[in-house]
Amino acid sequence: MKITDTSDLWWKSAVIYCLDVETYMDDNDDGVGDFAGLARRIDYLADLGVTCLWLMPFYPTPDRDDGYDISDFYGIDPRLGNHGDFVEVIRTARDRGMRVIIDLVVNHTSDKHPWFVSARRSRTSPYRDFYVWRDEPPAQEEPTVFPGEEASVWEYDERTGQYFQHVFYRHQPDLNVANPRVRDEIAKTIGFWLALGVSGFRLDAVPFFIEPPDGVDVGDPHELLRDLKRFLQRRVGDAALLGEVNVPYRDQVKFFGGQRGGELDLQFDFLGMQALYLSLARQDPAPLVKALRSRPDVPPEAGWANFVRNHDELTLDKLTEAEREEVFEVFAPDEAQRVYGRGITRRLPTMLGGDPRRIRMVYSLLFSLPGTPVLFYGEEIGMGENPEIQGRTSVRTPMQWSDGKNGGFSRAAPGRLVAPIPTDGYAPEHVNALHQRADEGSLLRFIQQLIKRYRTSSEIGWGTPRVLDHDAAGVLAHELRSDVGRMVALHNFSDVPVRVALDLGAVEEGTMLLDLHGAERLPLGSRGRTEVELEAFGYRWLRVAAPGDTRIS
Ligand code: NOJ
Repeated sequence: MKITDTSDLWWKSAVIYCLDVETYMDDNDDGVGDFAGLARRIDYLADLGVTCLWLMPFYPTPDRDDGYDISDFYGIDPRLGNHGDFVEVIRTARDRGMRVIIDLVVNHTSDKHPWFVSARRSRTSPYRDFYVWRDEPPAQEEPTVFPGEEASVWEYDERTGQYFQHVFYRHQPDLNVANPRVRDEIAKTIGFWLALGVSGFRLDAVPFFIEPPDGVDVGDPHELLRDLKRFLQRRVGDAALLGEVNVPYRDQVKFFGGQRGGELDLQFDFLGMQALYLSLARQDPAPLVKALRSRPDVPPEAGWANFVRNHDELTLDKLTEAEREEVFEVFAPDEAQRVYGRGITRRLPTMLGGDPRRIRMVYSLLFSLPGTPVLFYGEEIGMGENPEIQGRTSVRTPMQWSDGKNGGFSRAAPGRLVAPIPTDGYAPEHVNALHQRADEGSLLRFIQQLIKRYRTSSEIGWGTPRVLDHDAAGVLAHELRSDVGRMVALHNFSDVPVRVALDLGAVEEGTMLLDLHGAERLPLGSRGRTEVELEAFGYRWLRVAAPGDTRIS
């Protein structure tokens, strides 16, 4: 059946907002954010226009990888609350029209997970085969994900005299997904959280996760993803999987399940994100244009999740070495702002020197790129990172709510906070949600407006995209067309104003271009040609409105 209702596949026109409960809002003033605090901020998020929260790991954890090292897949970290508090958040969010998805980290467990504790007790443990053991590491070792922090992906276990595999940290042993019992446990975990009301999962490290241990034949590794998706749908028909898959585009298609779908519903566009930074560094959209043009077709039910920053380092691993150097020089000139030889530890506003024109241009782009936008908490107010914190966690500082004590995040003594708050020009006295809510010209209000426009322009998530040809240097022009309508977005990456000559092809006589962020109406001749002006780092969203078009927003 043809999908005509754009609310059907909710993830294709969602506004996803990622947050870590422990850094969002502290209700009991112990210095750690919690579910009760988050519940008090659901109205803020609904007001911003968010339609789906993505909660970073909140499970019991020794916390050696900020919660991505889980010791109980069914639990809640007691510092954050309990299952009752969790359900209150889900229920309140639902009441305000918001879904919740949660991080599902099943490539590995913490080494403190009872399965691993048992597995390493003896070679005959019933959980031994939950993990990947070898007498010797393979001759050809996979490179580690964390160069400088880990030297190998194999760790020797003294007691049982074998090596176990860990693609990430040595305290994160990899689960053996070739073991049917492990697969059953994963499905049970999914079933549990779905029963508590979540609408899906952000699946961590997908390519590593589905890869069976070296030398073990499981047939097609993607069958595991298909299985999980089928299971998910049986339990909750419209539950979705958003996957972390940082591989070349041609390989990403496989994780959607090819053109037939049936695997991930959304995948982050890591390549587009990296191309964006190269474009910003050069003030030239060409790298992004190239990436957008080489994006493969995806099944109609699936889509791209666009993002500017996430909670990890800003990885530039898919650029060439020379390109990466270029971006480093412009956006991370100081060695301390780089990590793992491939990434940057800063947030966008600090990289752009706080220039409001450029920051707004980037977010305008984010919300107009074909796909589903994903925000990392604090982006909506232009938070910076804390340069005092080494490594990728520098961007995971507490949400800045006000200019009060601890930025309004907690009333605990500052020394007890889960992470130290920036004290520079991005400190809460300069950047906070409360001030920006009251200021019509603020970034927060701007992003709220973008979200409004995005939500009434479902061609962005659903439409067929096309990068338009023109000869104005520095400008990305793209259009989106679907049954609901057609729009054109223009973004000037350069610091000089430009005039763009657009050629949209033949249109019905009387067709107008309506400025979606202003009141202007530009006539478009029947040959579909017009000229549009853009300021330095300017942007426009233009709806192509044929005479008789009844859309009012
Ligand atoms: C990807 C997560 O985004 C990252 O933060 C984490 O360290 C690894 N997966 C391991 O779970």
